[in-house]
Amino acid sequence: MRTARAIARANIALAKYWGKSDDATNLPAVPSVSLTLDPLVTETTVTFDPGLDADAFVLDGEPAREGELARVRALLDEVRAASGLTDHARVESANQFPTAAGLASSASGFAALAGAASRAAGLDEPLEVLSARARRASASAARSIWGGVVELPAGEPGDDALSARPLAGPDHWDLRVVVAVTAAGRKPIGSRAAMRQSRTGSPYYDAWVAQSFESARAITEALMERDFDRLAPLVERSFLAMHAVAMTNEEAVIYWQPGSVAALHRVRALRADGVPVCATMDAGPHVKAICVADAADHVQAALEETEGVLRTLVARPGPGLELA
Ligand code: ADP
Ligand code: DP6
Repeated sequence: MRTARAIARANIALAKYWGKSDDATNLPAVPSVSLTLDPLVTETTVTFDPGLDADAFVLDGEPAREGELARVRALLDEVRAASGLTDHARVESANQFPTAAGLASSASGFAALAGAASRAAGLDEPLEVLSARARRASASAARSIWGGVVELPAGEPGDDALSARPLAGPDHWDLRVVVAVTAAGRKPIGSRAAMRQSRTGSPYYDAWVAQSFESARAITEALMERDFDRLAPLVERSFLAMHAVAMTNEEAVIYWQPGSVAALHRVRALRADGVPVCATMDAGPHVKAICVADAADHVQAALEETEGVLRTLVARPGPGLELA
């Protein structure tokens, strides 16, 4: 038996990934830029065991759903092909935050799996290779291989080795992300299905892709210069444009709940009062308020008392993949 354990963290995109240039190889059509977040942690153990007659995946203490197992199996198949190993594997993973709820469990989950599976198979692969493998499983996971500020470029069909790359470490800028949780449980539609609908169904999809390059460039520049006043409106525009595309699918994917709207207005009112804070949202109802560390207590208190906000949690820039 060969076994290895890995820890990875979720990340929050400031410049959003939404849409693929190739479904089969899971290549993003747009560049994205993120912060890797502590303490949104996933811990995964992979054991290749000659005694198993099929791969098994236990997620948060329960046997995973068939579709969830299939995505894990696809990554394990890549590792088997790279290592020459033929054994099946048992994968046990725990997310220390809600799964499939819009808090990027897919990102930390597939980054941790890429690391643990590679190590368990006896491979000694560079982080770029692990990032590309995590990206093929879930593109946002490519970014969680590194800590701090991370970029995932857009890819063209054929860019099989496309990986994310680190831009600055977790200590680059002492930011906080105050997550306002506005609904319980799993989200109604996953990001993969929703972005596929956007590509084929939204009249604004091509405009979204066209503006994404300048958006990611400007967000990167503001992040590198630690220029919050410049960063804030750019970050909000990126997520609002992404959601505009999702909402104008033929099936209109509306992730927002009343508490999401209330929290967004609260964040913007705080900023109008001079608090360095801006908002972003992923494919889910929660609002993530990004602010400088000194403002975090104030922002958290304001969001805690906002109607429709069930609870808050505070995250900060964290490290990348850890192998044990
Ligand atoms: P989220 O907002 O949590 O990323 P998604 O719907 O995008 O929600 O992704 C959730 C999916 O990611 C799960 O249904 C499962 O397929 C996968 N996933 C989540 N956590 C893990 C994990 N720890 N290991 C492997 N896959 C995971
Ligand atoms: C809204 O990485 O979950 O969080 O590549 O299909 O697995 P797949 O999609 P996924 O999408 C994340 C979308 C997002 C924005 C972002 O993280 O950049």
